[in-house]
Amino acid sequence: MKVLGVTSELFPLVKTGGLADVTGALPKALSAHGIETVTLVPGYPRVLEQLENAQVVAETEFLGLNCRLLEAESGDLKFYVLEAPVLYDRPGGLYLDEHGNDYPDNWRRFAILSLAGAWIANGGLHAWRPDVVHAHDWQAAMTPVYLRRHFECKTPTMLTIHNLAFQGQFEFQTLGDLGVPPETYTTECLEYYGRVSFLKGGIQTADFVTTVSPTYAREILSDRSGMGMEGVLRANKTKIKGIVNGIDTDIWDPVNDPCLVGKFDLERLANRDLNRRFLMNLFDMGDRPGPLFAVVSRLTWQKGIDLLIDAVPHIVQMGGRLVICGEGDRDLHERLRNLAKQYAENVAVSIGYNEGLAHLIFGGSDFLIQPSRFEPCGLTQLYALRYGAIPIVGRTGGLSETIIDANDAATGAETATGIQFHPVTTDELQHAIDRAFEVYQDRDRLRKLQSRGMMADFSWAGSGRRYARLFRSMADLPPRIAQ
Ligand code: ADP
Ligand code: GLC
Repeated sequence: MKVLGVTSELFPLVKTGGLADVTGALPKALSAHGIETVTLVPGYPRVLEQLENAQVVAETEFLGLNCRLLEAESGDLKFYVLEAPVLYDRPGGLYLDEHGNDYPDNWRRFAILSLAGAWIANGGLHAWRPDVVHAHDWQAAMTPVYLRRHFECKTPTMLTIHNLAFQGQFEFQTLGDLGVPPETYTTECLEYYGRVSFLKGGIQTADFVTTVSPTYAREILSDRSGMGMEGVLRANKTKIKGIVNGIDTDIWDPVNDPCLVGKFDLERLANRDLNRRFLMNLFDMGDRPGPLFAVVSRLTWQKGIDLLIDAVPHIVQMGGRLVICGEGDRDLHERLRNLAKQYAENVAVSIGYNEGLAHLIFGGSDFLIQPSRFEPCGLTQLYALRYGAIPIVGRTGGLSETIIDANDAATGAETATGIQFHPVTTDELQHAIDRAFEVYQDRDRLRKLQSRGMMADFSWAGSGRRYARLFRSMADLPPRIAQ
């Protein structure tokens, strides 16, 4: 069975967050079930630079733009790269320019990605045609729309929502240039309060919609967490399913991780201290007692970084230290840099994206803090567990189901893996931090919590099986009548 993935990020080629980790790891998990995945990604310069022995498999036009499709492999991954420098060769980031603004033609950049995906699914390449299409997030959400409305092709489609906060909404005027029939602009498909919504079109058109944890799948049906899309989601409720993300245990393996100074497992936990000391030296934090807290995150409102900033004086006053590795909103960069100046001995901030440092932080800190206001799944808490850092998480979305709070019952039953807090406010975060200090003082309790986390199984085995089952059932679907 063959699956075409369509995504704007794919680890290790290009990553800004967890989306890339998932699209990079799922193909491996699916191959264990006899499913071959080829993933279509945009030809950003950083992707093109990494290609080895790429073959041009098509030169064709999408929405009036000449593009090339390259085929390449790297490790276990097979992929197609959409080469269109006008769209993807930009000085800024993947989605934002150097000043932090959305590229004004993002609609075109990702409509063309989706159209290319639909073209492949419709047999454009002759040599390879998928049985199922798997589109990720708004950037690929037009793939099912093009497939049904432009090509009138019945290949089954799945859309995975990694984050409902990003919906790909554009001006009504873009409609004329999208290459879809005008009938597509109705509330049944692309129309959303007078604008065009790629995500809504995908939700309405895909045969299945998944999101990255069962809890988030439930949350997004509510007015509180549906981000305006709850009505659309409720209308499509029967085709929505939550499948929790896994982690790639080959890449995230403290025994073999090349980014770690001290490689470790439960038997060699003392080596973990090498990472801790290395971090402290790196950030000139001295070698005083007290727990080391950490954050590895996009620095945005979603991630509750402002709540953390307000809790920093409390952490410092209690004798803790904090390392933050992140990138995101400029005002948060500024506030964090100021904190690092104000509390130079206790707070260290590394602004930017640094994959190696992230590994080192998971493998050297005592607690990882995630005060997310919402979290579809979250992967950092899973990496932290495997690397022996105890997660302190807001009770929301995937965080609530992957971390077991060290309350009396769970501690007694020896099932706890971390600390949860609710509601997600600075007060409750500070309270959770107090609990972390208590745990830290009780060595036996700390070790138990840590080792249970390290032994927890969040590999892709279970979720890979769930996706595989769903794809197989979709491929056997009776043919759909083109709408
Ligand atoms: P999200 O996708 O919402 O950002 P996840 O927890 O699912 O959150 O995934 C985040 C991924 O990005 C993890 O692999 C994490 O280690 C990584 N990451 C986030 N910020 C940074 C950073 N500044 N440097 C390196 N890795 C980062
Ligand atoms: C999104 C979500 C995050 C999830 C990731 C991968 O970026 O914010 O919670 O883990 O996608 O699915």
